[in-house]
Amino acid sequence: MIGAALAALPIAPSRLGFGCASLGSRVAPAAGLDALAAAFDAGVNWFDVAPAYGAGHAEALLGRFLRGRRDRAIVVTKVGMAPPRRLGAMRLAYALGRPLAARAASLRRGFRGLAATRNRHLPLTADLIERSIGESLKRLGLDTVDVYALHDPDPADVARQDVRAALARVLDRGQARAVAVAGGFDACRAAVAAGAPYSALQTAVADLEYGGAELAGAGLLLVSHSVFGVGGGALERLAARLAAAPQRHRRLVAAGYSADRRRAAAELLLDCALADNPDGVVLASMFDAAHRAADLARVRRPASAMALGLLDEALA
Ligand SMILES: NC(=O)c1ccc[n+]([C@@H]2O[C@H](COP(=O)([O-])OP(=O)(O)OC[C@H]3O[C@@H](n4cnc5c(N)ncnc54)[C@H](OP(=O)(O)O)[C@@H]3O)[C@@H](O)[C@H]2O)c1
Repeated sequence: MIGAALAALPIAPSRLGFGCASLGSRVAPAAGLDALAAAFDAGVNWFDVAPAYGAGHAEALLGRFLRGRRDRAIVVTKVGMAPPRRLGAMRLAYALGRPLAARAASLRRGFRGLAATRNRHLPLTADLIERSIGESLKRLGLDTVDVYALHDPDPADVARQDVRAALARVLDRGQARAVAVAGGFDACRAAVAAGAPYSALQTAVADLEYGGAELAGAGLLLVSHSVFGVGGGALERLAARLAAAPQRHRRLVAAGYSADRRRAAAELLLDCALADNPDGVVLASMFDAAHRAADLARVRRPASAMALGLLDEALA
């Protein structure tokens, strides 16, 4: 089935994918378009978006970016979540907060924590699935997306006959090339059990570590995200552990990792995510130029067994 998803795609995916969750919300449109172009020029061709992303602006912005580049990009969009309700208040908050958020990681985390910035689940119906893809294609300015995913679905909905039939019709009409589940471990497991039309799974790195063998064994194309933990929690914990064990950090520095503990922790976590998903795509938020450069460097320089062993030791 990994073959099924890959065969459906017109080009081979890059190892890193660009996550567009903040495009047009926390990240202003012009800065977002620049970041997309920089990542694309550096070889990233997988773009992950959803109707809810960027407070509802991300698909249209990604569509603008794709003009003249469509045949060199893989586009994933989703169905099942809508942007937050209080968009007027949010727009104002983003406009006021962006200049500060660009400089302060704590404020970036604050944006994510605001109830007003949280996306809303929609009841998953056949009608929604068939209507939403049309609306997404219109916003993106495309005739087809490469992957159409159920966005954080209830595991029970993944197996529903009417849901699978609606997704199959989307494929038959050529509105998407492949269908996926983008959700937690149980939803992904339900997709594996259901079989067709699902040929790809998108889930958090932590879920892959927990159930990776089961999910990877199913042979679907795997896309992983939340490398640094939800809200960066895993990154903070690993950096603290390196601080508590300076000899480990010294061994890492000798192996080429950053002398800055937080940066070394980020490098290790991304190495681990790439190693855990060797044939798939790892998503990252690549709006920040320094983060983007650091993340792209990991793909060019695969982790050594020693480094991954050290990560296991540090996390034990
Ligand atoms: N259900 C789903 O399908 C689902 C769920 C979650 C996420 N996603 C997708 O995955 C994408 C990425 O989201 P994520 O949660 O996985 O975010 P992430 O890339 O893990 O980013 C989380 C935090 O880590 C920071 N970061 C990135 N690279 C770093 C580096 N090298 N060093 C230090 N910090 C770094 C980011 O900062 P900056 O933002 O400032 O660079 C951000 O604050 C989303 O945009 C979305 O497309 C999908």
